[in-house]
Amino acid sequence: MRKKTMLTRSPLLVLLLLALASACDTEAPAPEPGVDTLSPQVPEAELERAREVADALGSELQATLLATLQDDGPLGAVEVCAVEAQEISRRHTDDEIVTRRTSLLTRNPVNDPDPYEAERLEALADAHERGEMPAEEAELRTENGEQVLRYLRPIVIAEPCLTCHGDPGQIDPSVLELIRDEYPEDRAVGYDAGDFRGIVSVRLRLNDREDH
Ligand code: HEC
Repeated sequence: MRKKTMLTRSPLLVLLLLALASACDTEAPAPEPGVDTLSPQVPEAELERAREVADALGSELQATLLATLQDDGPLGAVEVCAVEAQEISRRHTDDEIVTRRTSLLTRNPVNDPDPYEAERLEALADAHERGEMPAEEAELRTENGEQVLRYLRPIVIAEPCLTCHGDPGQIDPSVLELIRDEYPEDRAVGYDAGDFRGIVSVRLRLNDREDH
């Protein structure tokens, strides 16, 4: 409680909170422009659709987080990430499209990668090491007999993310305690700014196409 009052009073901390507005941000600080298409025939309309959904997930998460940080501080923001992140993902998921965030080191096991995502996460981690990570990736695939577009956008750790994903020794003890309570299997700590964190992943089922 003492913490909350302090946070709302200090202008410096308010600034910090504003910086944290990007806390659940899923946008990578655009490494290389342009899509890295892993298959030659990615259809433009579907690619645009996947981009829009990936944008929407990022901006909704950010808007909700900003409001919560102002009202409730970082502890409240953990709750937002805990509940709203899943809720917002669900809102952008239906029979046709699945939108989620995933990582090789997840906080919430619900976000664990599927085999395709795991393979691409490994490849992107290597590309990041080499300083060659693309801003986005798209591939047309056949999965279980249906045509799907897989669209991925890398997420990189920025300074404000360290509040909840940094060195456990540096994370505010009450924030760390809340995270450990909510996520006993948490593996998403120990990051530094600039580290590759994961991806926004969109899986879009292609309708029976006219040329089909
Ligand atoms: C206020 C604490 C907080 C901050 C700050 C924060 N996160 Fe998280 N993050 C969480 C929580 C809690 C989850 C688990 C959400 C869920 O249950 O899906 C999470 C999950 C994620 C996931 C989904 C994969 C996983 O591990 O389950 C990604 C990716 C992610 N965060 C990236 C970031 C990035 C990038 C930043 C900075 C721009 C950031 N986070 C800042 C608390 C935070």
